[in-house]
Amino acid sequence: MKFPENFFWGGATSAIQIEGAYLEDGKGLTTEDCKTAGSFSKRREYTYLDKDKKPGSQPSSMGKGLPEGATLAVLEHHFYPSHDAIDFYHHYKEDIASFAEMGFKMFRMSISWARIYPTGLEETPNQKGIDFYKDVFKELRKYHIEPLVTISHGDLPLVLENQYGGWKNRELIELYMKLAKTCLSEFKGLVHYWLPFNEMNDYLLMLDMFGNVSTKETHQKSFQMIHNMLVANARTVRLAHEIDPENKVGSMICGIPNYPGSCDPNDILETRYRWEKGIYYTGDVQCFGEYPSFSKRLWEEYEVNMETEQSDFLDFRQGTVDFYTFSYYMTNIVTTHETKVIVQGNFANGARNPYLNYSEWGWSYDPKGLRYYLEVIYDRYHLPIIITENGLGAVDKLEEDGTIHDPYRIQYLHDHLHECKVAISHGVDLIGYTMWGCIDLVSASTGQMSKRYGFIYVDRDDEGKGTNARIRKDSFEWYQKVIKTNGEEL
Ligand code: BG6
Repeated sequence: MKFPENFFWGGATSAIQIEGAYLEDGKGLTTEDCKTAGSFSKRREYTYLDKDKKPGSQPSSMGKGLPEGATLAVLEHHFYPSHDAIDFYHHYKEDIASFAEMGFKMFRMSISWARIYPTGLEETPNQKGIDFYKDVFKELRKYHIEPLVTISHGDLPLVLENQYGGWKNRELIELYMKLAKTCLSEFKGLVHYWLPFNEMNDYLLMLDMFGNVSTKETHQKSFQMIHNMLVANARTVRLAHEIDPENKVGSMICGIPNYPGSCDPNDILETRYRWEKGIYYTGDVQCFGEYPSFSKRLWEEYEVNMETEQSDFLDFRQGTVDFYTFSYYMTNIVTTHETKVIVQGNFANGARNPYLNYSEWGWSYDPKGLRYYLEVIYDRYHLPIIITENGLGAVDKLEEDGTIHDPYRIQYLHDHLHECKVAISHGVDLIGYTMWGCIDLVSASTGQMSKRYGFIYVDRDDEGKGTNARIRKDSFEWYQKVIKTNGEEL
């Protein structure tokens, strides 16, 4: 069992979770700049001004819109962890040097749309934003690290949300294409691996989340948003190939395998439907170039009437991706029976699996689930695969002597990489693995810093206090050895 030669070992991040400098050098505000800090038991909130300009806030991911006439806003007396994040904006040289020392071959990062087009509406891009990313890419290339760039990882320019209603509005497609074209032309030759969007299937996974508001309107919105993103995705694939034939474009799916809670045929069918809705719906359009046959059933079930244009379907056919990528953290149990214990973590929401352990954030620990997902997906699409997110969020302790011992993270990564090896030996064309949060960053779901993923610790706490000093954990050296031996020694 071996990893292939030239395997893309690396790490992954997103702009809003690392950059900070939220208003520096002309950057505009984004939706995620209006998100407060939370914890496992307290949801993060979006802050807003209502129609009378009175401040308010509302838990995120509830599927519920803001009150009529309200607009997202940054308010006084709130703490927004992403405003400073880990200040990658000013530390990128030091951080990339550390990634290089570990031996990274690939680094996944995202573009902050509002750094390039501050409101999303400008005719010409913000040169300082372009310069920043060029410098980062050049720095990566200096160490022969291949950038893997997500063009949009959820942080939408605020104006596009407040004035346009976000991705449910078709006009976003053209506005996004302006961003995509700028990135593909400006960074031509510096970047060859692109992901147009992060996890657009999240909007469908959210439909099954306990506590979310599920109405005809939210269903309509979720499917429409995804349709518009899929059109933009397909057009980006085509444009990327036109601009530089060396470009390769991938999907990025939140990969949560579903297991049936029992052998009751109802559970088996329901599990299949969850795979279709949550995993295959977006992946099939991206990889096969058309909506799968079960879409009709879904649209009927959710009473969706989407706004589409004939050319969208041609775009799908002409814009299929070159490789498949996904995040993997956990599996989910689907049951049609009453269950007392529901575990909710990330976008999983199901019964507790008695055969698995769970992290303190409710995320199941299931390395074999990763093998399962890899084999199922490769069998379906026959495309090269990169795991673009996988890792363990845990509380780390900085010892008095300045060391950080994280054997639990080493164990987690060991177990998951072992399953990758098995999947490869079974024929899966896995070409890369970028561990999520290779340097500690702001947690997307909770806004915490204390939910740490990194090989590198960042001295910053949940209230934004700390020196931002970077300190290596034990896992740093471990990963260095893994890369050096191309995964022979895990
Ligand atoms: C993924 C997202 O779903 O999960 C990342 O793409 C996110 O942005 C990651 O950070 C881990 O989730 P969390 O909530 O632990 O940060």
